[in-house]
Amino acid sequence: MKHLLKLLDLSTEEIIDILNLADQLKYEQKHGIPHNILKGMTLGMIFQKASTRTRVSFETGMYQLGGNALFLSSKELQIGRGEPVQDTARVLSRYLNGIMIRTFEQAEVENLAEYGSIPIINGLTDFCHPCQVLADLQTIREYKNKLEGLNFCYIGDGNNMANSLTVGCLKVGMNVTLACPEGYYPDKQILDFTRDYENFKIINDPVEAAADADVLYTDVWASMGMEDEVEKRKAAFKGYQINDSVMASAKSDAIVMHCLPAHREEEITSKVFEQHAKEIFDEAENRLHAQKAVMVRLMANEG
Ligand code: CP
Ligand code: NVA
Repeated sequence: MKHLLKLLDLSTEEIIDILNLADQLKYEQKHGIPHNILKGMTLGMIFQKASTRTRVSFETGMYQLGGNALFLSSKELQIGRGEPVQDTARVLSRYLNGIMIRTFEQAEVENLAEYGSIPIINGLTDFCHPCQVLADLQTIREYKNKLEGLNFCYIGDGNNMANSLTVGCLKVGMNVTLACPEGYYPDKQILDFTRDYENFKIINDPVEAAADADVLYTDVWASMGMEDEVEKRKAAFKGYQINDSVMASAKSDAIVMHCLPAHREEEITSKVFEQHAKEIFDEAENRLHAQKAVMVRLMANEG
């Protein structure tokens, strides 16, 4: 593995290896065992969109591994004034040991990897959010002690989260059911990928999709960059919510997950959110551990 651009690029073995290392790094951090695996190294973090979890978990993770992290707002970089990503990639490769980028177009992340000579990590694009899903899989395995054979249900927009969850969950052997309204299905590339999987379904009814689920997941109705569509989307997604009816359809020990930030009373009720806050914030914590594992796998030999 040279980069983390999208989960479509990773084998099942690579995903499981990252989860195992994430568990180990989490255990070591909780027991005060220091690790200086990335001593002297610097991660550049380019942000074209807002972030709380991604920024803080990458920055903290890098410090915990003995390295440094630089926050690079695209507004202040020349990239924000039109310097091509191909040139930015070649310049930053001369200073840094890795780049994490959060942006709009997936092509920008892929270009950075093509022109740069250091590992590139996708910290969210309109197409996918691989770091979040690695943390999600780590969390699901912690709660259920396995991944294979679990019933996973996602309710809401067929967005970047739905794209990455579909790929990640299918690759580790989970059964995936999505409930999305017509016109808001996942990307065509993802739907093409699912053709090889009989254990994938996409339907329109959230309660039916949740039947027998071990894991319920949702995300906002309007993602970053879709601010103009908020009202239209509120109408389109009405009812695509994790609420008591959806919970009653799932297994009685189902866990509830959300990548955050959440919009209460839209995609999830406050009641269900608070009843499952433990899972949701364990999931947020695991961003730190999963991303440390990704950085170790990609950057440990770059020094
Ligand atoms: N889930 C997630 O990526 O959160 P941030 O947008 O706060 O980074
Ligand atoms: N789908 C959301 C995820 C945020 C972590 C967005 O792209 O805004």
